[in-house]
Amino acid sequence: MDPIRAYDRSVNRLSRRELLKIAGSVGLAAIARPITAQQTIARPVFMTFPFTLGVASGDPLPNGIVLWTRLAPQPLDGGGMPMTNVDVQWELAADRTFRTVAQRGTAIARPELGHSVHVEVEGLQPGREYWYRFRAGDEISQVGRTKTAPAAGAAVDQLRFAVCGCSHYETGYFTAYRAIADEQFDFVFHTGDYIYEGRGHGGRSPAAVREHSGQEIYTVVDYRNRYAQYKSDPHLLAAHASAPFVVSWDDHEVDNDYAGDRDEHDTPSELFLLRRAAAYQAYYETMPLRRRSVPTGSSMLLYRRLQFGGLVDLSVLDTRQYRSKQACGGGSKAACAEAIDPGRTMLGSEQEKWLFENLANARSTWTVLGQQVPTFARDAQKIDPATRFPMDKWDGYVGARNRLYARLKETRAPNPVLLSGDVHQHYGGDLKLDYARPDSETIGVEFTNTAITSGGDGADTTPAWEQIKSDNPHIKYHSSRRGYIACTATPASMRADFKVLDRVTVPDQPVRIGGSLIVEAGRRGASTT
Ligand SMILES: [Fe+2]
Repeated sequence: MDPIRAYDRSVNRLSRRELLKIAGSVGLAAIARPITAQQTIARPVFMTFPFTLGVASGDPLPNGIVLWTRLAPQPLDGGGMPMTNVDVQWELAADRTFRTVAQRGTAIARPELGHSVHVEVEGLQPGREYWYRFRAGDEISQVGRTKTAPAAGAAVDQLRFAVCGCSHYETGYFTAYRAIADEQFDFVFHTGDYIYEGRGHGGRSPAAVREHSGQEIYTVVDYRNRYAQYKSDPHLLAAHASAPFVVSWDDHEVDNDYAGDRDEHDTPSELFLLRRAAAYQAYYETMPLRRRSVPTGSSMLLYRRLQFGGLVDLSVLDTRQYRSKQACGGGSKAACAEAIDPGRTMLGSEQEKWLFENLANARSTWTVLGQQVPTFARDAQKIDPATRFPMDKWDGYVGARNRLYARLKETRAPNPVLLSGDVHQHYGGDLKLDYARPDSETIGVEFTNTAITSGGDGADTTPAWEQIKSDNPHIKYHSSRRGYIACTATPASMRADFKVLDRVTVPDQPVRIGGSLIVEAGRRGASTT
């Protein structure tokens, strides 16, 4: 019997007065039976819609997908759920009207995880679309579209994916997320800075179009509320409901420019790690990730590998959790001995070993490394030699970059494509074995997405870029507008369409292609189309 319809018939509706009596101090969520701590509420009765944070799916496998939601009738105030387990039914169908249900089941939303659910569906068909939804009591969620990965090693004609990140709630509307939703990608790779932790924007950004509620965030509840505020923008919910996300984080999911166990203010590590644990927990709760990523203390396993037939081999990297402290005091500095010290790490030794093994056995047409901060050099000596390189990027971890590039060359991993974000400007270009020598070998390409909103409206170019572009000939496309990248991989080429919006401080502006780069399989380097 269809368990969801069965609930329709059996749910025991209580009067509003009884509901309020049972609900007691739990606020907007009421239940059909008295609460005890150990009990799982099978048939919750809500007084307010609980699926305020929408639905999401992620990390597609050929036979499986992660489905996500979080019950939050009071999303901006901790969630508003009673502190007990609650049953959530899910179903996944082969059609958007749910006539052909492929699988269904019940998951438990637990208070320990903010009443989020992460369903790891298995036994699905490779390379096909599915639609999914959740139910709790009588309440039904939005419908999400998702797609499994093609079968292992299969010939794939085309794969389309978005690369996006840096969505500051205050500095603009999430129109770019709406455009991503409209494109119905095979998957969306998020480069991080999904939220910003601060209060206000430090005077660095243009005028806010809306404001973060509360102060700078530190506790699990703070981070939950911040994620919920971001999800109050319907365009973010639409993007998640349109395609599976493959998420990674950057710094602002915890604290600006943090490095491993050090924050930017040199807070004692044992204290910063308390904050990092809270941030990582809320991140896990909010993202469509597998159980392997459930945090342990202040640690969380985020790096992983996803394969899309014989076409794309994607290693998702974590360049925050294990990196060495920023060189030379952080910020932007002249080239300094510490920055090129090979003893310093960006990935940590275990992740670096894992990645280097992946590169040795990469067999797909495109070897894609999805990560956060640009690996290419951005030399700004013409602006000021004293602030020539950004220490937060791989420019501050030159020894680690040299190891990575040397490994790409040594393994001959097919057609390396690095993805990055963080810098709120589009960049696309070639990776050079030695950036000081423009004629040195090209060992791959990198596409860096601008921001969904961070930095405000932006412009086609900046005075700084005009000043330094001649010193950075490996960079072949640049835009300082907001947007995302739409990538199209085929057996013959990888094309990056750099999508831009003229304004993000005005709602619902159009999105257009600002420029494109194309890489032909077998040839190292990008060219303009
Ligand atoms: Fe950012």
